[in-house]
Amino acid sequence: MDKKIKVAVMGATGAVGQVFMWMLADHPWFELAYATASASRVGLQYASTVHWVMPFEMPKSVRDVEVKEFNIEAMKEAGVKIVFSALPAEVAREAEPQLRDNGLYVFSNAASMRYDNNVPILIPETNVEQLDLIKDQGYPESGFVVTNANCVTTGLAMALAPLRKYGIKNIVLHSYQSVSGAGYPGLSSFDITDNCIPFIKGEEEKIEKEIKKILSIAPEVYCYTVRVPVMFGHLEAVWLDLEQDVEVEDIINDWNTFKEVSDLPSTPELPVEYGADNTFPQPKYAFWGKPSGMVVYTGRLKKKNGKIGFLLLVNNIVKGAAGGSIQNAEAVVKRFGLI
Ligand SMILES: NC(=O)c1ccc[n+]([C@@H]2O[C@H](COP(=O)([O-])OP(=O)(O)OC[C@H]3O[C@@H](n4cnc5c(N)ncnc54)[C@H](OP(=O)(O)O)[C@@H]3O)[C@@H](O)[C@H]2O)c1
Repeated sequence: MDKKIKVAVMGATGAVGQVFMWMLADHPWFELAYATASASRVGLQYASTVHWVMPFEMPKSVRDVEVKEFNIEAMKEAGVKIVFSALPAEVAREAEPQLRDNGLYVFSNAASMRYDNNVPILIPETNVEQLDLIKDQGYPESGFVVTNANCVTTGLAMALAPLRKYGIKNIVLHSYQSVSGAGYPGLSSFDITDNCIPFIKGEEEKIEKEIKKILSIAPEVYCYTVRVPVMFGHLEAVWLDLEQDVEVEDIINDWNTFKEVSDLPSTPELPVEYGADNTFPQPKYAFWGKPSGMVVYTGRLKKKNGKIGFLLLVNNIVKGAAGGSIQNAEAVVKRFGLI
């Protein structure tokens, strides 16, 4: 690509927004041209106002970025074509349709438009064909919104995509979700220190709905989602009832040979990696892999009474959020080109 595509990040100071700023700092196709946060930060220099929570240094190139107001005309004047949204759902509900109606290409982490019939919940490794839905939103004459899934669902969909061929009848899932999943500042330390919270509002319903839409399957889904005192990475314990009788060796082989075919910059060579060690995976590996945080790790695979059980780890703010959105934008650029 001769010239990079100009992009905006909305909600650049939040947990997901910070990952966008980090991953876009040296992206081969995209160049940050506009960043927003809430009104009180407008006009401030990014480094002076953000509370940086990433487990590594802020990239130098984003330190001096000025936080701007939400202004579609100003975005367009800055040359922006793609908008990455890390806004709370209630703010996104207003902003994202306006951006689309103004011809911009929106890649959102918010849940507000995920269940619209003409809006894909995209994970390039699992359902890139659903990108055609953007034509139902009026593309190429108008803009569009592409969402990514709830972070737990992203990890689940990645592990299940290569197993779809066996027929997925039932899914039982128990999650152990990190505090970064609640954004910044998120939960009170009084509530989460030395504790686990056995309820995350709306989460179980999202997983049930989204896994069906993403993989075009109709299993029964039984979930408990629990917040645990861990900073990054969601661990998920999964049990499956499959139509076919399958051996664990087949499943390991399916994961080891699972690939995303279009060779996107943010897709790892092995998007799902299985580890045979009994202590694998753990949230402390959330930023492993290349690109960092984009690999879903599986482990503890077993078969009992015909059921298949395993654990998985997904980096909720990278593959499960900003990294997934960037990968989705890469998939659109690759598939349609930018007009
Ligand atoms: N965290 C995760 O693991 C995760 C995973 C998948 C999806 N998501 C979704 O991604 C979105 C962002 O999540 P997050 O965890 O990054 O949340 P967050 O840490 O609370 O960040 C929210 C961002 O939106 C900005 N914002 C809030 N109200 C605004 C307003 N009225 N106008 C303009 N900007 C406003 C905030 O700016 P200020 O800093 O100035 O307040 C901040 O930059 C949410 O929809 C969430 O459900 C999150």
